[in-house]
Amino acid sequence: MKNMRLAAGGLLGLTIVVALVPLVLGPVDLPTAQHHLLHAALIAGALISALLFAAPSHKTGAAHYGWLLVAILSPVVVMMLMWPSEYAWFEQHPGGHVLEHLSIIAFAFATGYAGQRYAAGIGWVTGLSLLFMAIASAWGFGVAPAATGALAASVPAGSAVASDAPSNAGPPNVVRGAALFSQNCAVCHGVQGAGGEGPSLKDERTRKNLQQAQQWIMNPSAPMPKLYPGTLSRADVRDVAAYVETL
Ligand code: HEC
Repeated sequence: MKNMRLAAGGLLGLTIVVALVPLVLGPVDLPTAQHHLLHAALIAGALISALLFAAPSHKTGAAHYGWLLVAILSPVVVMMLMWPSEYAWFEQHPGGHVLEHLSIIAFAFATGYAGQRYAAGIGWVTGLSLLFMAIASAWGFGVAPAATGALAASVPAGSAVASDAPSNAGPPNVVRGAALFSQNCAVCHGVQGAGGEGPSLKDERTRKNLQQAQQWIMNPSAPMPKLYPGTLSRADVRDVAAYVETL
């Protein structure tokens, strides 16, 4: 029993140390899928230690509904902490990023521990379902307003993750990019991108890859106006460039 608690404490400590890594690395720029998987690893560490901690104490007896409530609500909080729209901010703010990690660990721990305290086995069920959701989210299930199907497929894989990219969190959202295009670019490049005052952007991907298109939009030559960072955010540039690549 004592050994189990020691192991649990050791694992929890290790997980917390890993959670502090952004303080050392500073702002990061990871592809969302990888980032979700790293968060899933934090969740796994917290869960296993919670289950080990709870194991010696699972007395049977009247079930406490308070524990069940915590076991059910905690995974929801964890998934909210991994919401993609928060990513850009967290990635740029190491302190906030560490707080996010520590909260993920705390609520993942609560998921396993409270479940086990409610009834032996429940911690495993709530814990595994949380872990499953976290891993599935790496592929965009549930949490990402993902660009779907053909549009997403036409964005060259990995092009958004080049390490020299300026802040560029998460996969580009082509659907959002299309809306931005009609608001900001269609006046010159045509509603379909076939050209007007500005050149046609059809088959732009054969002239500029996603990275180059983003660089161009951030630093265009006259007469194309420089809309970044005044009108377009970094995420806007990424999304609209991804859309242009599909024309
Ligand atoms: C005021 C008109 C105008 C607006 C608005 C405008 N552009 Fe342009 N764009 C141009 C012109 C003109 C060029 C050609 C500039 C050159 O080649 O020196 C150009 C060039 C480009 C190119 C490079 C084409 C090539 O040769 O490879 C891309 C990509 C592009 N624009 C994307 C966009 C996007 C995306 C937006 C909206 C965020 C946008 N433009 C808004 C006028 C405009």
